[in-house]
Amino acid sequence: MARPIISPSILSADFAKLGEEVRAIDAAGADWIHVDVMDGHFVPNLTIGPAVIKALRPHSAKPFDVHLMIEPVDPLLDAFIDAGCDHIIFHPEAGPHAHRTVQRIRAAGRKAGIALNPATPAKMLDYLLEEIDLVLVMSVNPGFGGQKFIASQLRKIEAIANQVAKKDLVVDIEVDGGIDPVTAPAVIDSGATALVAGTAAFRGGPSEYAANIAALRGEE
Ligand code: DX5
Ligand code: ZN
Repeated sequence: MARPIISPSILSADFAKLGEEVRAIDAAGADWIHVDVMDGHFVPNLTIGPAVIKALRPHSAKPFDVHLMIEPVDPLLDAFIDAGCDHIIFHPEAGPHAHRTVQRIRAAGRKAGIALNPATPAKMLDYLLEEIDLVLVMSVNPGFGGQKFIASQLRKIEAIANQVAKKDLVVDIEVDGGIDPVTAPAVIDSGATALVAGTAAFRGGPSEYAANIAALRGEE
């Protein structure tokens, strides 16, 4: 199994001490810090916005891998750029001009990502793959942590990995939802390069974070 990038989702961290949690998961070996932004409208849950991301920014030098589950995206894009997001990932269903949104993210010097819901086909990427830095394949329906991995997404990961290889692109394939040491190997074998994990990264509290991350990498 190739060594995957691990992006722990702070959705599963203790929200009463987020700065401390970001420092702890960074020190435990996280490669990226996954931040789930939900608007209570595009998805049926509400989390944090740019002000909290900005406040967290000094707590880690690792890339902030920010997953926007908001609709529309464009009016808030500058706020997320100013907050210090490194990767800005959005769902193409959230607005009519995904290509333009990608261009704006890249013009700001940030990495652009497209998130695909479980029912959204890989075909959605046909005219975007050359323009983006990462694809986020959702292996649960977005909105909540702790859901069961949807195995049909393995085929989608494989299809995207084939396209990336065929076109000789540098695009990370990140997978989000229900990832744990049991589901991770098949996800990596299908061609994923990065894993998001909320529940499996943060379970047991800070003393377990390093072991949790190692287990996700298949090092245990
Ligand atoms: C779900 C979020 C995920 C979530 C994953 O909408 O996008 O990032 O935190 O949580 P787990 O790893 O518990 O499935
Ligand atoms: Zn996410």
